[in-house]
Amino acid sequence: MRKIVLKKEDVETGDLVLINQKHTLKSKINNLVFFDEKYKNIKLNDNANYALHLILDNINAKNEIVPVSGYRTLGEQKNIYNTSLKENGRDYTQKYVALPNASEHQTGLAIDLALNEDDIDFICPKFPHYGICQSFRNIAPKYGFIERYKGEKEAVTKISNEEWHFRYVGYPHSKIITEKDICLEEYIDFLKDYIYPNNPLVYKDTLIPLNSPSSISFKSSFTSDSSLSFIFAYDLINSLLLSNLLDISLEIIL
Ligand code: DAL
Ligand code: ZN
Repeated sequence: MRKIVLKKEDVETGDLVLINQKHTLKSKINNLVFFDEKYKNIKLNDNANYALHLILDNINAKNEIVPVSGYRTLGEQKNIYNTSLKENGRDYTQKYVALPNASEHQTGLAIDLALNEDDIDFICPKFPHYGICQSFRNIAPKYGFIERYKGEKEAVTKISNEEWHFRYVGYPHSKIITEKDICLEEYIDFLKDYIYPNNPLVYKDTLIPLNSPSSISFKSSFTSDSSLSFIFAYDLINSLLLSNLLDISLEIIL
């Protein structure tokens, strides 16, 4: 039996972490890597970057799709917000730029992508619903990414339609979110109905792109306390399941 101990400082981290106006960034960010040798100005979480390159390789899109914005420091987010306020006004800025510390770009888990053309807009790059961009969109959930801000979820996310912004949440969360056509806020609420250990969420899939097992059984690990703190545990369990380390117990210290 393998025992996992979660400490207080481990909460509010992990691939599923929710960052928005209500849930601002609390954790320190580690594990950042350059997108690649050509785009050393763009950094991402290492797992997210690995998965992103798998997608781009899979659809042969390395020259057609380019990264525009990945990890941002607090200072960079402030700067983008204030510059946009001056150049584009308040309405536009509130629609397309998150407030400092409310941006998931600050986690390294979000990436803005663009069709490789001249004059790429930094805030609203072009990533249309056809051609190579749509091919990316179609397979992204198999590799842990979701299209984060859909127009119909604006009332929940408080961000307008951003068809260029993809968020790494990890597999199979990405597939469940996409299949259910819900946003991350709604998924987090959904997970809270599945209480560990009596009522786990079980998700079965036969196609595991990043790992070898031919099928997985996926269990949630929320406790009856519906605090967001437990998302980390949920996420960690998932990683261990994918690593075939199925025999585990969980102890949470808060
Ligand atoms: N454009 C997204 C909402 C951000 O600034 O994080
Ligand atoms: Zn973005």
